[in-house]
Amino acid sequence: MLQVFVFAPTSLVFLCFSLLTSGGRARGGYLNPRGQSPQTSFLNNFEVAGNSYASAQQVFLGTLDKVYIVDKTENNSWQINGHPAWASEWSISSRQTRVMDVITNSFCAGGTVLGNGTWLNVGGNQAVTYGGVAALSQTGGPPYDDPDGRQSALNFVRLLNPCDDGNCDWVLDQPMTTARWYPSLETLEDGSAIIIGGCRWGGYVNDALQDNPTYEFFPSRGQPVVSSILQNTLPANLYPLTWLLPSGKLFIQSNWKTVLLDYNQNVETPLADVPDAVRVYPASGGSVLLPMTPANNYTATIMFCGGSNILPAQWTEDWDIPHYPASTSCVQISPEVSSSYEEVDPLPEGRTMGNLILLPDGRILCLNGAKLGTAGYGVTTYTVGQSYADQPILSPVIYDPSAPAGSRWSRVGLNSSNIYRMYHSSATLLPDGSVFVAGSNPNPDVNTSAPYPTEYRIEIFYPSYYNQRRPEPQGLPNRVAYGGPFFNLSLTVADLFGNAHNIQSAKVVVLRTGFSTHTMNMGMRSVELDYSYLGNSNGSGVLYVSQLPPNPAIMPPGPALLFVVINGVPSVGVQVMVGSGSIGQQPTSPNEPLPQPSIIPQQQSEGPLNKSPGASVVLGQTNGNLTHWLKIAGALMVVLMVPSLH
Ligand SMILES: *[C@@H]1O[C@H](CO)[C@@H](O)[C@H](O)[C@H]1NC(C)=O
Ligand SMILES: *[C@@H]1O[C@H](CO)[C@@H](O)[C@H](O)[C@H]1NC(C)=O
Ligand SMILES: *[C@@H]1O[C@H](CO)[C@@H](O)[C@H](O)[C@H]1NC(C)=O
Ligand SMILES: *[C@@H]1O[C@H](CO)[C@@H](O)[C@H](O)[C@H]1NC(C)=O
Ligand SMILES: *[C@@H]1O[C@H](CO)[C@@H](O)[C@H](O)[C@H]1NC(C)=O
Ligand SMILES: *[C@@H]1O[C@H](CO)[C@@H](O)[C@H](O)[C@H]1NC(C)=O
Ligand SMILES: *[C@@H]1O[C@H](CO)[C@@H](O)[C@H](O)[C@H]1NC(C)=O
Ligand SMILES: *[C@@H]1O[C@H](CO)[C@@H](O)[C@H](O)[C@H]1NC(C)=O
Repeated sequence: MLQVFVFAPTSLVFLCFSLLTSGGRARGGYLNPRGQSPQTSFLNNFEVAGNSYASAQQVFLGTLDKVYIVDKTENNSWQINGHPAWASEWSISSRQTRVMDVITNSFCAGGTVLGNGTWLNVGGNQAVTYGGVAALSQTGGPPYDDPDGRQSALNFVRLLNPCDDGNCDWVLDQPMTTARWYPSLETLEDGSAIIIGGCRWGGYVNDALQDNPTYEFFPSRGQPVVSSILQNTLPANLYPLTWLLPSGKLFIQSNWKTVLLDYNQNVETPLADVPDAVRVYPASGGSVLLPMTPANNYTATIMFCGGSNILPAQWTEDWDIPHYPASTSCVQISPEVSSSYEEVDPLPEGRTMGNLILLPDGRILCLNGAKLGTAGYGVTTYTVGQSYADQPILSPVIYDPSAPAGSRWSRVGLNSSNIYRMYHSSATLLPDGSVFVAGSNPNPDVNTSAPYPTEYRIEIFYPSYYNQRRPEPQGLPNRVAYGGPFFNLSLTVADLFGNAHNIQSAKVVVLRTGFSTHTMNMGMRSVELDYSYLGNSNGSGVLYVSQLPPNPAIMPPGPALLFVVINGVPSVGVQVMVGSGSIGQQPTSPNEPLPQPSIIPQQQSEGPLNKSPGASVVLGQTNGNLTHWLKIAGALMVVLMVPSLH
């Protein structure tokens, strides 16, 4: 069962690239720009880039170079401590994989990153033997040595401090109050985590006898608290879809229902039912908190795409769910502006298990999943092998929220994968703006002969900007605070694509890639920093960049990536610590006012057309007519930028 794979030639380029990336996590200092991404011959396409050793049910980016993979306990052929490994670490630069020991059965855990940078993975299943069958010993022993990852007395949460030296591994910490299989996690504004829902034993859907309709916190705040929405949304209330909103309330979507939860008071306010389709597992629509920006006043808008139109009673009836067409519907809601959903452009085809991945340029990549059925596996006369889904969708599609309604989805120029990414597949953004895709295993144990086999191949998808020259901003901070002084990023003529006016449409993006499992990326969010600018007469420029707004609920504390996007092309992301770097109330202060934006007209004497005296007037948007100057300079600019374009 050993899988053979060949490293692509570009891995050498990645190796060189990694030398540029040793920026590290020094406190309160500045980071070096991360230079250029290597060129790929797989632009708009997928490249097989390694082997995950454990099937990638759960995935997250832990450092600038390391992706962590967590599987359920199963018979992977790679071993650790004398038993099959069900966790691993994959290096972006070397494309090599290292086995890890997650100790207990992490089957269908949830996860997030805490405000101090430690990753948390909680919940799971009982100890199993071959075929996913419950083991006689729940405390370890052959063949898997996988103590119960679920039962209250033993259900320790798992913690990982990601590392680049190959020496870190998972450790067990305090137990949770109660057993949780399929819990959702979200990082809160103090950097702690809320752990929501789940059931005690597992199954395709939940039922009243094993339901755990409660939430609790890590670090613990005591006994679990009952949640009405979880109680009222059986049987499809597993992995409830949850985001922290700027008000500090939590948005929770479960089965057809939606609420706002004030978790401090335990008060739930009902919002509208989600239209068209169930979005939570096992219908498994894609979901994403759209970028929060100064332009939208940091309003939270959550979009759901695909899933399946299945009524509560139908989940447990005997019918052909695995061949039921998935939904095309996309809807969005801005829960602090309106209590109802609105329809947005539908998917080009119905899709279940389609991940929605935030790209640094503000677009959203949809990939993985299938046209028919749902998530889950089991044995019925209808399942395909044991898969509850059929007809995998191999082609990605990209959503641009800034495009006019009716034309937001596009797959023009995008190639397809040839690897099925069904149930238990995952995806995450990487610092260079490419997307890591792995997993797929709708089987109770490793099965390489099933119609939808256990998948170990890792792929990288390269979005359209990938081969362009990347901006290399100087002055990148390694921390971002909630308010306080702005910081300055300098950009060269080349960074601005030969035209200082391109600085006006820059984006400075703080992006958390999240914890990917079951078509969710828990904690994934993207926030644009406010900025002003100075365009120099020689075509270079400076961005004056505000810290985050003084509200940690907009972007909870913890590690994140920082990108500067010029003309839709992101810099290679650096890792920043958002907030204080520790769990607890975060310091906030007002944002220092930004200087007026200004562009100093390009000095004619520097250009090839030396016909008029150089202008030295500084024009601010508020005190001058930029459009006027742009028109005058227009033809000249075109000529000036030609030599610096490649
Ligand atoms: C477990 O995997 C090993 C290969 O790694 C294989 O030899 C063995 O037969 C498998 N056991 C079962 C019960 O599938
Ligand atoms: C982060 O906080 C958690 C909870 O208190 C703790 O277990 C963990 O060790 C902390 N991590 C670091 C890096 O301090
Ligand atoms: C932006 O949001 C803040 C905080 O929610 C609010 O006070 C302010 O009125 C909003 N501004 C606009 C222009 O909507
Ligand atoms: C693999 O899956 C196929 C199809 O479901 C099944 O017939 C076969 O028994 C499975 N193999 C193992 C080792 O479970
Ligand atoms: C798409 O990928 C296939 C292989 O997966 C390749 O043969 C084909 O040339 C690619 N097409 C484009 C336009 O990149
Ligand atoms: C950033 O630029 C402003 C405006 O030119 C200047 O006053 C300030 O000193 C600069 N800050 C740093 C840290 O260089
Ligand atoms: C461009 O002008 C700025 C501001 O005067 C200056 O700091 C920078 O060094 C200049 N860059 C080049 C390449 O001359
Ligand atoms: C700015 O200049 C343009 C082009 O000359 C002109 O059409 C426009 O009306 C001016 N706008 C203002 C606000 O003066």
